[in-house]
Amino acid sequence: MSVFNQERARTYDAGARTSMAGYEALHDMARDGLAGYLDPHKPARVLLLGVGTGYEAEQLQQRFPTWQLIGVDPSEPMLNLARQRLTGVDLRLGVLDDFADLVELDGVLSVGVLHHLPTREEQPEWVRSIGQRLRPGGVALVGCQVGPYQDDSPQLRALQARWRHLGGLTSKDLEERVRLFLTHTLPPTRRQLDEWYRKAGLSKPETLFSTAYFQLLAALKN
Ligand SMILES: C[S@@+](CC[C@H](N)C(=O)[O-])C[C@H]1O[C@@H](n2cnc3c(N)ncnc32)[C@H](O)[C@@H]1O
Repeated sequence: MSVFNQERARTYDAGARTSMAGYEALHDMARDGLAGYLDPHKPARVLLLGVGTGYEAEQLQQRFPTWQLIGVDPSEPMLNLARQRLTGVDLRLGVLDDFADLVELDGVLSVGVLHHLPTREEQPEWVRSIGQRLRPGGVALVGCQVGPYQDDSPQLRALQARWRHLGGLTSKDLEERVRLFLTHTLPPTRRQLDEWYRKAGLSKPETLFSTAYFQLLAALKN
């Protein structure tokens, strides 16, 4: 997607940690969540959908060297950084529909992708395709913004306070950042997610981790 252009890719690793409290803890929990279902010492095929610059892949590879990791991402600049960071991960430029061989997967981890899809119509389809690619009993861990966003909510106030504190922003820049946050992503509601998971043949998602408006959800393929 164009939003993950060269400039965004260059600043992504630092920016992700400023944007959201708990970015590394979230990924820590994602690793624990996967290991809760997949044997850490046996082979497993795990897809990182939206592998980005490769931080999560690098951490997974270190902790689970027997797992075969596949990283898919449509942003060339993001994937280039992953290529520089990683060896031994099957990195592919594109979206899931481009790769018919990615089936019978043991696990899918996708953090920060769903709310960035360009239209709401694509979101249930995207969840459905994850369901289709997992083997029965396979695990899906999806981390995404969950709405609705509300003006003057404690979550929004906390985010603003964080960006003011860490971002070194002027009031005008902060206002713009909040405007972008509220308008440039499409957070599903929890009710929508539950429904999409059900239709995708996945179990009801359970929250493994959450921070202001962001949730990491775990579910199994029926
Ligand atoms: C916020 S970043 C998250 C990167 C990484 N997962 C992380 O947690 O740091 C979102 C990534 O999803 C990618 N992306 C966007 N649309 C996608 C799609 N339809 N399928 C897979 N990846 C997608 C973007 O290019 C970007 O690299």
